[in-house]
Amino acid sequence: MESMKMFAVGLFSLIFVLLGHDATSASSASRRPNVLFLVVDDLRPRLGCYGQSVMVTPNIDRLAATSVRFDRAFVQQALCNPSRTSFLTSRRPDSTRIFDLWTYFRNISGNFTTLPQYFKDNGYVTQSVGKIFHPGSASGFTDDYPHSWTYPAFHGSTEKHMLGQVCPGADGQLHKYAVCPVANLTQVPGGSLPDIQSTDFAVQFLHNRSRQPDQPFFLAVGFHKPHQPLRYPAKYLDLYPMSKIRLAPNNVFPQWLPSVAWNPYFSLRQNEDVAALHVPWPFGPLPEDFQLKMRQSYSAATSYTDAQLGRVLEALDQAGFADNTVISFHGDHGWSLGEHEEWCKFSNFDITTRIPFMFHVPGVTSQKAPPGKTFPFIDAFTYAKDHPTTTEEDCANGKRQKPETCSRGNPEVGGLSTDAFAEAVDLFPTLAELAGLVVPPTCPENDADIPLCTQGSSLVPVIHNVTKKSPSPTLEWKKAVFSQYPRPAYYPQNTSDSPRLDAITIMGYTMRTDFHRYTEWLPYDTATFTADWDTVLARELYVHADDPLENWNMADVTSHGPLVTQLSTQLRAGWRNALPWTQ
Ligand SMILES: *[C@@H]1O[C@H](CO)[C@@H](O)[C@H](O)[C@H]1NC(C)=O
Ligand SMILES: *[C@@H]1O[C@H](CO)[C@@H](O)[C@H](O)[C@H]1NC(C)=O
Ligand SMILES: *[C@@H]1O[C@H](CO)[C@@H](O)[C@H](O)[C@H]1NC(C)=O
Ligand SMILES: *[C@@H]1O[C@H](CO)[C@@H](O)[C@H](O)[C@H]1NC(C)=O
Ligand SMILES: *[C@@H]1O[C@H](CO)[C@@H](O)[C@H](O)[C@H]1NC(C)=O
Ligand SMILES: *[C@@H]1O[C@H](CO)[C@@H](O)[C@H](O)[C@H]1NC(C)=O
Repeated sequence: MESMKMFAVGLFSLIFVLLGHDATSASSASRRPNVLFLVVDDLRPRLGCYGQSVMVTPNIDRLAATSVRFDRAFVQQALCNPSRTSFLTSRRPDSTRIFDLWTYFRNISGNFTTLPQYFKDNGYVTQSVGKIFHPGSASGFTDDYPHSWTYPAFHGSTEKHMLGQVCPGADGQLHKYAVCPVANLTQVPGGSLPDIQSTDFAVQFLHNRSRQPDQPFFLAVGFHKPHQPLRYPAKYLDLYPMSKIRLAPNNVFPQWLPSVAWNPYFSLRQNEDVAALHVPWPFGPLPEDFQLKMRQSYSAATSYTDAQLGRVLEALDQAGFADNTVISFHGDHGWSLGEHEEWCKFSNFDITTRIPFMFHVPGVTSQKAPPGKTFPFIDAFTYAKDHPTTTEEDCANGKRQKPETCSRGNPEVGGLSTDAFAEAVDLFPTLAELAGLVVPPTCPENDADIPLCTQGSSLVPVIHNVTKKSPSPTLEWKKAVFSQYPRPAYYPQNTSDSPRLDAITIMGYTMRTDFHRYTEWLPYDTATFTADWDTVLARELYVHADDPLENWNMADVTSHGPLVTQLSTQLRAGWRNALPWTQ
């Protein structure tokens, strides 16, 4: 691993990565690749390219067809600001000290060099569009400008309406609804939607850069949907007739779940349409017809986002950058759509910590590229006509071994994939290495005073293994991945979803290995930022071989005692110990 890292560092890696065996074009070597950094808010791997036959996501699928897709990728906390701060600094929440939606890392942990800042320091033009940092106080009211960005971050004028009463109701008034298809954009404040405005800006940015091709860019585009409220152009509902929508295969309360693990989805309940249902507090469930509506609208909002993303990719291609731009694509965390009778993120399950995650590297990951342009815009409605989908039952028949990968074997979805574990903290070192920049060193135990270091690992060895660029059948990789979630109290409160820093009293540390998910809930002191590992308030153990959907907490089953002891030791040894190489 170390030798591979050394090998690929610096200018040599640029030639190696971008030009493959054809290193004749010396002039290209003087120019680093651009980076297109795509993030989608609250997007779980519910996509065509992850084998979800009901989904119509042709543009993301097209990107996947020329990328390496990671099928076991996880974030470090299933909440926007903690997750984003973590992957943008490449440090885990215990180091960033960011567990809530309001605190800014530069105020509380350290003056860390962020991923875009590192590219900016290395001569890149960096631009943030839409939601990259969590906006507001969480990023110093500036989206971390000018530290991270060459220009101020772009936010569409309609973003300010996002969480307000902006949904046209049957009564002609505007409401705050979770389910909000918009028949005509003239009906919503500002006459547009944030993701459309972000896309327009990104398209213009790319067009402008084609006139200044000598300076590489790092363009970060953060899409807001499918974050709730699910507000999107109503035509996308046509892709998902209600007759094809099914409930989550496991919309049942997990067996022996400690109540501290439960997310009562308080923020979803704040919508008028959900409040009107008088869903029992705190455990629900939502009425089944509303569950179906939520699943339908999450799908429609995802297809709407796919179309905007397709416009950005098409503009990249038209501006002449398809051959020299590295693209990363990921969600900031997953989302429960009725699994475990839960909604939203706010938990430690696979369904909320697992993300779609892929890297497109020109000349390296495009071996299975379909003919024609690299990124033609693909219209969802034409695509759906040509590719009739089956119902969600295909994915809900309980036969699948892994959530979200009940492939219908559609060859057009194609692309390369890997089961190697990946974590969102790996983004920073991976993109640095792919761009030929020095990969930041691994952080020491106390990293508050170290501006530039990583708690992740560059995924380039895995990408090169999968693409057979440098196959290494004996390559050893991470043995486990780690996430965490805070709570204000053991029993669900209004603030359990996303407690403010000073209200946090408990931390749940979770670890996913090949065969298990194991979690410990511990008292947590925010004055000292320490957990009391001697006092375990609750444990969870899910045995993936028998229970891939994590429905049965087996932690207190006596026969699992030795396994619990072993996993507890491994959890406490932490992420450093899960790496096969020495730190
Ligand atoms: C933070 O780091 C930047 C360089 O990355 C430096 O210019 C700035 O002065 C530092 N701020 C503080 C408060 O140390
Ligand atoms: C940072 O901390 C200072 C004082 O500790 C506070 O006044 C300021 O509001 C904080 N800023 C942010 C963005 O949290
Ligand atoms: C939306 O409404 C405007 C104004 O009422 C109308 O001119 C336009 O044709 C409508 N668009 C669609 C697609 O219905
Ligand atoms: C593109 O360039 C034009 C003309 O210089 C400028 O007005 C506009 O703000 C630029 N847009 C972006 C997104 O960079
Ligand atoms: C590397 O590739 C080989 C097949 O070529 C595969 O068996 C192995 O699991 C891969 N290792 C990793 C860590 O991706
Ligand atoms: C919790 O929220 C409900 C409304 O959903 C409200 O009636 C109740 O007062 C809140 N409780 C607290 C402690 O804030």
